[in-house]
Amino acid sequence: MALKRRVSGVIPEELVEKVPSSFEIIGSRGGAVAIVEIPPELEEYKLAIAKAIMEMNKHVRAVLRKVGGRSGEYRLYNYEVLVEGPTEVIHKEHGYYIKVDPTKVFFSSRDQTDRLDVAKRVAEGERVLYLFAGVGPYAIAIAKFAKPKFIFAVELNPWGFKYMVENFKLNKVKNAVAIHGDVKIVAPLLKRKFDRVLLTLPLGAYQYLPAALECLERGGVVHFYHLGREEDPFKEAEDVAMRACPDCKILAKRIVRDYAPGVYKVRLDLCKP
Ligand SMILES: C[S@@+](CC[C@H](N)C(=O)[O-])C[C@H]1O[C@@H](n2cnc3c(N)ncnc32)[C@H](O)[C@@H]1O
Repeated sequence: MALKRRVSGVIPEELVEKVPSSFEIIGSRGGAVAIVEIPPELEEYKLAIAKAIMEMNKHVRAVLRKVGGRSGEYRLYNYEVLVEGPTEVIHKEHGYYIKVDPTKVFFSSRDQTDRLDVAKRVAEGERVLYLFAGVGPYAIAIAKFAKPKFIFAVELNPWGFKYMVENFKLNKVKNAVAIHGDVKIVAPLLKRKFDRVLLTLPLGAYQYLPAALECLERGGVVHFYHLGREEDPFKEAEDVAMRACPDCKILAKRIVRDYAPGVYKVRLDLCKP
């Protein structure tokens, strides 16, 4: 709403409703990047919108416009640079720090409530396997709010791995190990059992469910992420999960956040009998 109000004198009245009501800010007072979706009808006004965002958020140094959806193995957006500036930032959430460059590696500040929810479920002494770890935010949340025995975190994108290592140092996380590699190859090589496995790849995690279950202790929990249609957000997730593990019990279901119009990112917590 605030952005619409701010640009209302600059953009023709009939187009103001097309101005996004929100945008993502990644970073903190030391410097932030703003990420915004601007529809084609507002092409002519994109720089005015970027300027308004910078005026509203004094610590924003760069404004990026999303072009299309996330793509590729690393799940990155293509961006049009509206205001050029540094894109490596230190984001702060729940009292911990996440160093990230969103042009190089996946990060969503909108998953922060889910991170806290997962972290609060971790019991003392648990062995945690975090697959598709990006810059490591779930591991940091778990290390901060729980007392796991250890966390193994696996990421393919070399930038993700680099930032994850830095983030563990930045947050003085001692009992987490960052592993650079492909989950397909790394998971079977771990040759150990875990009490909890995070499968944080909503587009495709189902293919890795058998491997995740293989790594899981009996009675352990998999946090399985998937996408679901608004009409019945959990249906497809439940179907694929039950196909991979007919005996698994669903402990919890959660809508994590909007993913696209009419589509949610959802989480199922599955317990292996
Ligand atoms: C949806 S992102 C989640 C990242 C992180 N968990 C977070 O919440 O910020 C999925 C991540 O999985 C990584 N990835 C994709 N395929 C992979 C694979 N086969 N092995 C390891 N990591 C992979 C991507 O590079 C990306 O960083």
